[in-house]
Amino acid sequence: ICPFVLCCVHHCPRSCTCAEDSATVSCPEWRDGDVPVDVPVWASTLDARGGNVSALPAGAFCSNGTELELVSLLLSRNGIRAIGAHAFLGLPRLELLDLSYNRLRSVSADAFHGLRELRYLYLNGTLGASAAAELPGALASDSLRNLLRLELSGNRLKTIPLASFETLNLHALVLTNNSLETVAGENVTSLGEFRSLRVYLALNPFRCACELQAFYHWLKNSSQQCPDMHRLLCAQPDERRGQQVEKLRREDVECASAELEAVSYVFLGIVLALIGVVFLMVLYLNRGGIKRWLNNIREACRDQMEVYHYRYEQDSDPRLANVAV
Ligand SMILES: *[C@@H]1O[C@H](CO)[C@@H](O)[C@H](O)[C@H]1NC(C)=O
Ligand SMILES: *[C@@H]1O[C@H](CO)[C@@H](O)[C@H](O)[C@H]1NC(C)=O
Ligand SMILES: *[C@@H]1O[C@H](CO)[C@@H](O)[C@H](O)[C@H]1NC(C)=O
Ligand SMILES: *[C@@H]1O[C@H](CO)[C@@H](O)[C@H](O)[C@H]1NC(C)=O
Ligand SMILES: *[C@@H]1O[C@H](CO)[C@@H](O)[C@H](O)[C@H]1NC(C)=O
Ligand SMILES: *[C@@H]1O[C@H](CO)[C@@H](O)[C@H](O)[C@H]1NC(C)=O
Repeated sequence: ICPFVLCCVHHCPRSCTCAEDSATVSCPEWRDGDVPVDVPVWASTLDARGGNVSALPAGAFCSNGTELELVSLLLSRNGIRAIGAHAFLGLPRLELLDLSYNRLRSVSADAFHGLRELRYLYLNGTLGASAAAELPGALASDSLRNLLRLELSGNRLKTIPLASFETLNLHALVLTNNSLETVAGENVTSLGEFRSLRVYLALNPFRCACELQAFYHWLKNSSQQCPDMHRLLCAQPDERRGQQVEKLRREDVECASAELEAVSYVFLGIVLALIGVVFLMVLYLNRGGIKRWLNNIREACRDQMEVYHYRYEQDSDPRLANVAV
């Protein structure tokens, strides 16, 4: 297929070292100027960890338009910001792709096109918010139907960035150390449909209230699907902080009871309001009687006051005092 193969069997790309016995090419000094990289056809591992490359354009590993034999592609800690469409063209045998600890801002919907044999995709600590939003589109690619393990640890994810599990063959989804407060009901349903899938969820700030209900029941019923379930802890509300999710009681996450409580408060309010209205009406209807009653009281008071006044006058009459003397 490749007219250059025979002539270039022993070549090694610029700024790389090649070890043919282990079929490994190491490029720790990989720079933007070295893209696309001229990978020898005999190589099965390209190790470019810790380089300095900002973008992977189309055909970044396919300078000759040849199909390569690469099985592992290690690109962690390069500061990669963008992955363009068809970036991994010509790598039909690639099984492991490590893009961890980069700074991805954009991932083309066709980024993973052609990776028909990809089994392990590592994207730990690498996704910015915009890249996380684009990832579901990229993972929906038809190419990834052999993907077994997807690692998305440490990406501050608030939702699962997968539109569906159907196009993949996932057996392990690692979502540890993210910002998931709950797992949405529709995701719980999808998880229930893919029984062989294992989901790792430790180090997420779960909110242990009504919104956790569907997930809680799934966790209790399908514990084998979440191997690290003992390590799932509540972060909210304050009174449940640090509590194990699996140790919650059913009523702690029961939505119905929370609703019922709200309803009963509303009901109590209505009853109190009704009592108030009835009281005011009684007052209003009785206003004649009340007026009379007030008048009576006032008159009674006045009579009393007059009696006192009279006594006082008598007691303080100087003539009477003289008489006493
Ligand atoms: C790819 O082609 C370039 C010339 O276009 C050549 O210099 C290089 O050695 C070739 N690499 C391989 C692996 O064939
Ligand atoms: C990486 O490359 C860019 C230019 O492409 C340069 O400005 C930057 O200093 C480099 N970083 C490191 C750590 O070498
Ligand atoms: C991804 O992160 C998880 C959890 O920290 C770790 O177990 C795994 O080895 C990481 N994978 C890579 C490729 O760094
Ligand atoms: C969790 O992820 C953050 C980045 O979001 C990282 O800084 C931190 O080291 C990770 N913690 C663990 C325990 O892996
Ligand atoms: C997970 O839930 C999000 C929204 O909550 C949805 O967009 C996505 O399609 C769901 N994915 C799966 C695999 O259920
Ligand atoms: C298991 O799931 C059913 C609904 O599918 C639910 O009614 C039940 O409460 C769950 N069991 C536990 C222990 O949560």
